[in-house]
Amino acid sequence: MSPIGPATVPSSYSGEFKPHFHVFDSRETLGQACANCIIEEIQKNKQVVLGLATGSTPLPVYKALVKAFNRGGLDLSEVTTFNLDEYVGLDPRDKQSYHYYMKEKLFKNLMWSEDNPLGIKTENIHIPNGQATKFQHLSFEEQNALKKQFPLRGDESTLSSLESNWIICRRAEAYDRLINQCGPIDIQILGIGENGHLAFCEPGSSHEGRTSLVELTANTRAVNGRFFHDRNVPTQAISMGIGTILQARKIYLLATGERKQEILKKTLYGKVCEEIPATALKKHSEVIFFLDIEANPDKRKL
Ligand code: GLP
Repeated sequence: MSPIGPATVPSSYSGEFKPHFHVFDSRETLGQACANCIIEEIQKNKQVVLGLATGSTPLPVYKALVKAFNRGGLDLSEVTTFNLDEYVGLDPRDKQSYHYYMKEKLFKNLMWSEDNPLGIKTENIHIPNGQATKFQHLSFEEQNALKKQFPLRGDESTLSSLESNWIICRRAEAYDRLINQCGPIDIQILGIGENGHLAFCEPGSSHEGRTSLVELTANTRAVNGRFFHDRNVPTQAISMGIGTILQARKIYLLATGERKQEILKKTLYGKVCEEIPATALKKHSEVIFFLDIEANPDKRKL
C-alpha cells in the first residue's frame, strides 16, 4: 500500500493552522498508512528518533510495523524511541503499565540480537520510569540523591509520597534532557483523550510544559478504568509536556471511533486554549491527522 495521499483540509475549516488530514475506511488501513510513513522516514534516515504513544489507537500502526519488520530489510538498529508517558506506581511488569504494553505490542517483536541484527537496541528505547514506591526501586544514584535531599530519612524501604514525588520529578527532568540530547524527535505519534489530553497532559496544562509529574483527572481515570478491571487506576503519571511534544519535527495525531469526533471538532474549530490541550497542536506547522471515518469531524471522506 502506498503512503498517504494528498493533503486535504475539511471544507468547513478556516484558520491559520494548516494541518493535513487523511481519512481511512478502517483502523487497519489507517495503521498501515501511518506505518508506511514511519518506514519511509526510517529508510531516509536510519537514525530517526520516534516519539511513541500507547492506548488502543496506535495498535494497528504497531501491528503493521512488526509485519514490515518480519518481511525483512527494515533496519531499526539505529532507531531511537521515546515514549510519551507512564503511570506512577506501577511495576514495569504490571500488565497495565505502558512498559508492558510497549513490550508486548511492539518491542518484543523487534528486538536486536546477534541473530536479529536489524532489530532495535534496548539502550535506544526510552520509556519514563514511574516506579518509585520502594527504596530498592531506585537506581544507586537516585538512592544517594534521595538521602542527600532528605537527610533525616531512616532506612525504611517504603518511600513517603513526598520522597516518591521528588524522585519522579527528578526523573522527569532527566527524561526531558535526554530528549533534548538525542532529539529533536522526528516523528511524534499521538492519540487524543476524550477530554483533549495529549499524552497525560490534562486540561489546564501549560502549552510550554516540559516532562513532569502530573495528576490524572477523574475523567481520564474513569475512561482508562476499562483496562484496570477491579483495580484502582493510578492517580499520577509521568508525562512529556506539551512544550516537549511541540518540539517534534512532525506530529501524527491518530484518532479512531465516534467517541473521538466531538473532541476533534472542538480541537479543530475552537480557539487555542489550555482547557483543551490538543488545541496546542495549532501552534505546530507540521501536524498530520490520521482519522477513520467515525472520528472524522467533517463526517465524510475527505
Ligand atoms: C491515554 C494515553 C494517551 C492516549 C489516550 C487515548 O490516556 N496516556 O497517550 O492518547 O489514552 O487512548 P485510546 O487510544 O485508547 O483512546
